[in-house]
Amino acid sequence: MDAKVLKSKLRGLLIGKKIYYYKEIGSTNDEAKRLTRLGIGEGTVVVSECQTSGRGKLGRTWFSPKGKGLYLTVIIQPFKTEGKTLPITLLGALSSARAINGLTGLSSRVKWPNDIMVNGKKVGGVLTEVSRTKKGTDAIVVGIGLNVYTEKKDFPEDLAASASSLSIEAAKKVTRSKLIKILLEEFEKLYFLLLAGKADQIIEEWKILSDTVGHHIKIRTGAGLFEGRVTGIGRDGELILKMIDGRIKRFTSGDIEKG
Ligand code: BTN
Repeated sequence: MDAKVLKSKLRGLLIGKKIYYYKEIGSTNDEAKRLTRLGIGEGTVVVSECQTSGRGKLGRTWFSPKGKGLYLTVIIQPFKTEGKTLPITLLGALSSARAINGLTGLSSRVKWPNDIMVNGKKVGGVLTEVSRTKKGTDAIVVGIGLNVYTEKKDFPEDLAASASSLSIEAAKKVTRSKLIKILLEEFEKLYFLLLAGKADQIIEEWKILSDTVGHHIKIRTGAGLFEGRVTGIGRDGELILKMIDGRIKRFTSGDIEKG
């Protein structure tokens, strides 16, 4: 990927106006947090060719080999979300799915809260974290990782059965700079919707692209394993579950297992 070509392609108003590009970095999320503390502001994007300590949700590592994936973090400072990161996580996954579907012809889906799936396998994920600005206010860093050129043989054993990449699943080759461009454009459109108080439109599209609503699932959280039928996604992105005993429970994080 050529950083200059990438920068020249970005046409958005806000997201991607400033790009920090690295050949190698620990984690783009960690770098984005460092930048926010220095006063680097909203819309800045950190991109790297590889990550030596890429992080996934629940303290997992994110497999980030050189030249095979897309590893980026968007810095935002939304004034209305008051530290709530879940709608932003959904937004990150939705913009990724939109970009993939538009460019590759694949029908990628989203799996609550942060997975991007193709043909039932995970091709990407979103890790949203809160950071501090120089002024002491909150910023949110939205990390997106997509497996683009990863081949079957590249994946470590523990991921081989559940993970895939765009080039494994799609006949058409995608270039990462095009994928980043479209992804950031879609991110910006959805972010402006969110700022305009139209989170419900994002949730509606999310429901269409997700296989979760209406399904019987098991969800594993820090508090244990819960089972029931998903009746909806709340305005703040929370998963609403009607449990077997009839009680309604709302989740803001967790790992969904099929029921
Ligand atoms: C997950 O599904 O567990 C979330 C994965 C998020 C990975 C991305 S890659 C870019 C950014 N930097 C990181 O260290 N993690 C996120």
